[in-house]
Amino acid sequence: MLQIDHLHTFYGRVPILKDVNMTISQGEVVALLGANGAGKTTLLRVLSGLVPIASGRVLFEGEPLDSVKPYLRIGQGIAHAPEGRQVFGTLTVEENLRLGGYRRHDGELAADLAAVYGLFPVLEEMRRRTARDLSGGQQQMLAIGRAMMGRPRLLLLDEPSLGLAPLMIAQIFAVIGSLRERGVTILVVEQNAAAALAIADRGYVLETGRVMHSGSGKALLGDQAVRAAYLGI
Ligand SMILES: Nc1ncnc2c1ncn2[C@@H]1O[C@H](COP(=O)(O)OP(=O)(O)OP(=O)(O)O)[C@@H](O)[C@H]1O
Ligand SMILES: [Mg+2]
Repeated sequence: MLQIDHLHTFYGRVPILKDVNMTISQGEVVALLGANGAGKTTLLRVLSGLVPIASGRVLFEGEPLDSVKPYLRIGQGIAHAPEGRQVFGTLTVEENLRLGGYRRHDGELAADLAAVYGLFPVLEEMRRRTARDLSGGQQQMLAIGRAMMGRPRLLLLDEPSLGLAPLMIAQIFAVIGSLRERGVTILVVEQNAAAALAIADRGYVLETGRVMHSGSGKALLGDQAVRAAYLGI
């Protein structure tokens, strides 16, 4: 579904991603791990069209991504729940969700809204509240729900568990599992490496912009170097 070959990116003149190669198959959950500043968010931003590709290529369902404008990307099937959630604080929960589906013209928005409320019942309870009144965990649910309203085939999640209490983290990972069951392919950036690898089919570890380790979730969990660097065990 997604194929990244020899990807290089820069911020100004500073190289960030260096010869990144990655593949994601339909229906997989893939974890992207790495220390602060490794380039994880940058990679998701490339996939959303927010960071230009300096060289290399990115194919999504066989088509090169660089030709697609960021605001059209959702129509192509990629949605991004960004780092820090970025919900619209002054809009209501439901308005935020409807914005996630703003490019759609089919008659199924109401059904999808109901599906998001099924995944996150608390959002339905709070649907008329402004998003800034939600807790951090609720805002994360809203960011994921908003991304789902675009009916993505590939969902990009940037640090969905960051700053959340353990119970909320468990809930977010459970939702990732149920999205996978619905056939959504997921690329999830996580600091919470053990939890991410436990649910991921495969993972990649970035170090200063390069892929240093990759493999099945199980293999990475068992890899001594990965364990020492990212799991602290
Ligand atoms: N807009 C920007 N302009 C210039 N440099 C940037 C910009 N955004 C990020 N960087 C730099 O690019 C590098 C990679 O950043 P990125 O945000 O992709 O890392 P990350 O792996 O997501 O880190 P974190 O875990 O802290 O979120 C860092 O060195 C960062 O300082
Ligand atoms: Mg980041």
